[in-house]
Amino acid sequence: MTRKVEDALNIFDLREIAKRRLPKWLFEFVDRGTEEEVALRNNREVFERIKLMPRMLVDVSGRQLDTTLFGKTHKMPIGIAPTGAAGMMWYKGELELARAAKAAGIPFSLATGSITSMEEVAGEVGGTLWMQLYMWADRRLSHQVVQRAARSGFEALLVTVDGVVAGNREYNRRNGFSIPFKYNARNTTDVVMHPGWMLSVLGRYIANGGMPTRANFPEELRSNITRDYGGDKRTRSDSLCWDDLKALRDIWPHKLMVKGILHPDDAERCLEYGADGIIVSNHGGRNCDAAPSPIEVLPQIVKAVGDRTTIVFDSGVRRGSDVVKALALGAKMVLIGRSTLYGTAAAGEAGAKRALDIYRNEISRSMAQIACNKVSEIGLEHIAYDHELRTGKPSTPPPAPARGVINVQPIFAGQEQSR
Ligand SMILES: Cc1cc2nc3c(=O)[nH]c(=O)nc-3n(C[C@H](O)[C@H](O)[C@H](O)COP(=O)(O)O)c2cc1C
Repeated sequence: MTRKVEDALNIFDLREIAKRRLPKWLFEFVDRGTEEEVALRNNREVFERIKLMPRMLVDVSGRQLDTTLFGKTHKMPIGIAPTGAAGMMWYKGELELARAAKAAGIPFSLATGSITSMEEVAGEVGGTLWMQLYMWADRRLSHQVVQRAARSGFEALLVTVDGVVAGNREYNRRNGFSIPFKYNARNTTDVVMHPGWMLSVLGRYIANGGMPTRANFPEELRSNITRDYGGDKRTRSDSLCWDDLKALRDIWPHKLMVKGILHPDDAERCLEYGADGIIVSNHGGRNCDAAPSPIEVLPQIVKAVGDRTTIVFDSGVRRGSDVVKALALGAKMVLIGRSTLYGTAAAGEAGAKRALDIYRNEISRSMAQIACNKVSEIGLEHIAYDHELRTGKPSTPPPAPARGVINVQPIFAGQEQSR
């Protein structure tokens, strides 16, 4: 049984360590999806069906993982996705994860719902920092977050648009977990059964000033995680619309990315409203259980807007070869969500570093296997076939979808061999 992060051979080993360390309600909050978890499973299954085509007899001894995004070079084609949970994985886990990202030379995204404030992350760590934003019912409060992020030196704003209503995560309720957190016999017993986490995470917060607080929330919404701050009614907005994107574009002076895009028409519209990039994502299968896997729809989005905007990808990535597949299908960078949370839960910065080392090795190995020395060389020609071919059926180009209808299969048939 793997106990130390140095012994973790892959992300799944880190997940096992995290599972043992965290209370069940917290582990499942991170690990699971929504409803029947179809989207969560599908995210992995589609990656498994896509095949890379190995190429031989090319000198790949000079492999480099450097990746340029928005004119800035990073050391790997991955970045850290925003997750409100890092600060619950470890005491001030956002700092631990951001330090690991900085040391690895990759961007770190801070979620609005984080425990550690954006000012502290910028002041204590630095590096390439991106700020994630949820639009709240009171837009004025969301805009305050944007202004703080600009003042703190964040380089990009990621506005998440796929969370206008909360995902239906029934397991949270079964585990006695809610936001705000309410003590009950089930979740309290769970905490006591995990004394390592109880003392080193919860205990440290309490010893240093009280229950964890969402430090990026404006005063009017801020409270510790056990207090009611008005819940979904205040911190979500089902009236979110394109005008809101326009308003953000007007007040945010740096790079603006829209996170949670799955349809080419939406991607097109993001461009019209001045976004600099889109993040093709289904939120790691945590929100809409009926949504397709982002890797299924990526080729069509690339075909629609890939030559006019920057496409970043996330959801379901657990291996370096998954990163390479997403790059081959046209993403310019891939964000990592749960993988580095598992690492952070396992051992703070050292665990996050272990997760990133695993990705570095696996991406480099995959690149060697498909005979690429540079990230920019990875292209559609490195995709061998999708599951249609594996089952013996020829992969015929899909019929042209009517406007508004998106055809998700076969995965890459009909795509030009270009990026
Ligand atoms: C525990 C957890 C919390 C998350 N919180 C946020 C969030 O606050 N804002 C956001 O835009 N995405 C959030 N996400 C989604 C991630 O940014 C990302 O889209 C997703 O984790 C990618 O899928 P993966 O975990 O399979 O890599 C969260 C994901 C997890 C697992």
